[in-house]
Amino acid sequence: MRRFTRRSFLTTSSIAAAAVVIGQGCSQQASNQPAANSSSTGASSNASSNSSSKVLRLYSGRHYDSDKKIYEGFETKTGIKVEYIEDDADKLIERIQAEGANSPADLLLTVDAGRLWRASTEGLFQPVTAQQAPNLYSAVPENLRHPQGHWFALSKRARVIMYNKDKVKPTELSTYEDLTDPRWRKQILVRTSSNIYNLSWVGEMLAVHGEAKTEDWARKLVANFARPPEGNDTAQIMACAAGIGSLAISNTYYLVRLAKSSKPEERAAFEKIGVFFPNQGDRGTHINISGVGLVKTARNPEAAIQFMEYLLSPEAQEMFAKGNNEYPVLKGVALDPELAKLGTFKESTVSADTFGRNNDAALKLLDRAGWK
Ligand SMILES: [Fe+2]
Repeated sequence: MRRFTRRSFLTTSSIAAAAVVIGQGCSQQASNQPAANSSSTGASSNASSNSSSKVLRLYSGRHYDSDKKIYEGFETKTGIKVEYIEDDADKLIERIQAEGANSPADLLLTVDAGRLWRASTEGLFQPVTAQQAPNLYSAVPENLRHPQGHWFALSKRARVIMYNKDKVKPTELSTYEDLTDPRWRKQILVRTSSNIYNLSWVGEMLAVHGEAKTEDWARKLVANFARPPEGNDTAQIMACAAGIGSLAISNTYYLVRLAKSSKPEERAAFEKIGVFFPNQGDRGTHINISGVGLVKTARNPEAAIQFMEYLLSPEAQEMFAKGNNEYPVLKGVALDPELAKLGTFKESTVSADTFGRNNDAALKLLDRAGWK
């Protein structure tokens, strides 16, 4: 695979036509300088000289090197070239809106249901039906796709309670709701309320409990914070291992990264942390998603749908799952061994569309509850 900077992309003749189109979008956001890239294998060199229907353009809010191997896999299999731009998902949504009918994007790939819901509500996607993509529908459960097929989950991440093994026994833990118990006073570590993982998590609480009860829960949770929210999920885990609090809210893949870290202090932190999957006695643990949708103005919808189905194939799902230590959406795909060690658990089936929709309400509620 070759990776192109924007400059080299523009001067590489075999892909120049596509680069110019994508480059126009770049100039609107020059300060962000998102990279325009081409995942190019031997098979795709044939494709580059063919018609534009053999080039697929992807805007991705994911930033994992492992994704590029998946793009290469698709190129090798189909001869359809994949060109992609990576940037913050919110910026990519704005960018597709700004480009309007001229957008070169065929697909938008992003993490978190909240962003997928936003893109769908802004009218960025077109539906993909079960007739068009039967494999997509058989692979993705109903709760992990848009009701009209605007987007489909590609991978799952569990938002769990992590605990300092020196301070907490797993038998002391039970549910997200129980985190408000006064015995956890000054013990809970979690990132800011504006973080989209928290908004989707609280969006699910809203769907289950309604506004008044969720706001009361949030207030009591804030009262149990070990410190004002700062840092990402990794920072919460590190603080938990350091004893700044005894519980941390985090997606599981952040802990698996620490387990595999080349830094001894990160592996030492991992050793101090236990993982608890909450709400196993009722609805199950909150699951968030990465997902993909077909852009309304896609120039190559057939190739795009083919790519979406490829993303849900066993081959691509295994790469997805292992690349960022996430859970595959397709049943029967092996987990990363370190992730598998965390154990099996019951997942909540509250639909991603529902908690994505609740993101805005969750943010307002958390603001009122004093969650910074
Ligand atoms: Fe993340």
